[in-house]
Amino acid sequence: MAIQPIRFFGDPVLATPALPVDTFDKELRILVEDLIDTMHEAPGAGLAAPQIGVSLRVFVWDIDDVVGHLINPTLDLSSDEQDGDEGCLSFPGLLYETKRAYGAVAKGFNMYGDPITVDGTELLARCLQHETDHLDGIVFIDRLSKSERKKAMKEIRNSDWFGTLQEAGQEIQMKVSPHNTFGLSI
Ligand code: NI
Repeated sequence: MAIQPIRFFGDPVLATPALPVDTFDKELRILVEDLIDTMHEAPGAGLAAPQIGVSLRVFVWDIDDVVGHLINPTLDLSSDEQDGDEGCLSFPGLLYETKRAYGAVAKGFNMYGDPITVDGTELLARCLQHETDHLDGIVFIDRLSKSERKKAMKEIRNSDWFGTLQEAGQEIQMKVSPHNTFGLSI
């Protein structure tokens, strides 16, 4: 069991697209275990590898008492949408209403390299979208409307954890997302 420090928003690794996994070895299985342990310790409902500083396309979740992991995911989204509060372990204490597709089918691999499909609605679908975004260097505030994001940025700048990063002299990267948001927000 190895709990890893969680990177906060502003860390460049969270804005960097992660690389696909090409070797399904013991190191990958340890990464998945570390992600699950770190998610449970936090506690959180999902965690992506970039959030512990590993830029690989891997994430884990624990939704409705089912723990899962997915490697190199691709997503198919339903056309119907859901509203609801969303948070992220890289933005401690902050929640914003975030529009997402109601359903998502994620295809990828388990840690042994076997192809798997995860079909989720509601919270699981929200999580699959949120975590896949992390692998593309997208964070959930990128999905907010311009005015909501502005409000969020103000709260982030005033948060204790963000102030601590600045005092520590950490390199901080705050970008406006250039990514396609599938028309969910601008
Ligand atoms: Ni997150």
